[in-house]
Amino acid sequence: MKILFIGDVVGSPGRNMVNEYLPKLKRKYNPTFTIVNGENAASGKGITEKIYRGFLQAGAQAITLGNHTWDKRDIFEFIDDAPHLVRPANFPKDTPGKGYTLLKVNNLLLAVVNLQGRTFLPPIDCPFRKADEIIAEVKKHTPYIFVDFHAEATSEKQAMGWYLDGKVSAVVGTHTHVQTADERILPNGTAYITDVGMTGPYDGILGVEKEAVLKRFLTSLPVRFEVTSGREQLNAVLMNFDNQTGKAEDIKRIIINEDHPFFE
Ligand SMILES: [Fe+2]
Ligand SMILES: [Fe+2]
Repeated sequence: MKILFIGDVVGSPGRNMVNEYLPKLKRKYNPTFTIVNGENAASGKGITEKIYRGFLQAGAQAITLGNHTWDKRDIFEFIDDAPHLVRPANFPKDTPGKGYTLLKVNNLLLAVVNLQGRTFLPPIDCPFRKADEIIAEVKKHTPYIFVDFHAEATSEKQAMGWYLDGKVSAVVGTHTHVQTADERILPNGTAYITDVGMTGPYDGILGVEKEAVLKRFLTSLPVRFEVTSGREQLNAVLMNFDNQTGKAEDIKRIIINEDHPFFE
């Protein structure tokens, strides 16, 4: 059982990379499930139904989100009819959409869970206690539980990794848009990385035009952030799990850009 997870897809540069490389990555690694974080997929903020369907067509089985979930009005039109779309589970009660989904490929059932951190992000329900609730529910159905923990602080992400070690198959971080080199299997069998990184522009600042971000830093004036163009990158992780226990056996970082070319 293998999972390919692609980090925050940013705007059309990110979508181009998914369309170009997802089929190639699937041919090379043959993942059982492919999951994409799409919180920045529509011009850097949010997701539309068309983009959601595009990811499914490109070969993803689940799309996770984050703090930009509600940024495109379109989301309210389709989130409750999008079985493969998962937004942070610890958003307030009665929020549209759902925080986890169960996916079936061949005979394997995978729970895909999205949680959001609370450090340097808007206050929401406790992600740790919400994780416990969901695990108690889905453990009845499957040992395979994948968690995309969308959070800013490295400490909060490491805390979640340790908290869920042995309870889920994987805890992978998203949101900071920079891939960390700390991928590991925790002692009780959970695959962990603090941040998978971002799929989109290679030469901006977290995907945004660097001139605008620099102007903000240098002048503190309000500026409009646009997704930048030019060279592109893809960041992902590939994980392998034991077919009986759901425990992780391997986690490998994937980087594709001009400095790290892809080999078929
Ligand atoms: Fe993001
Ligand atoms: Fe985010």
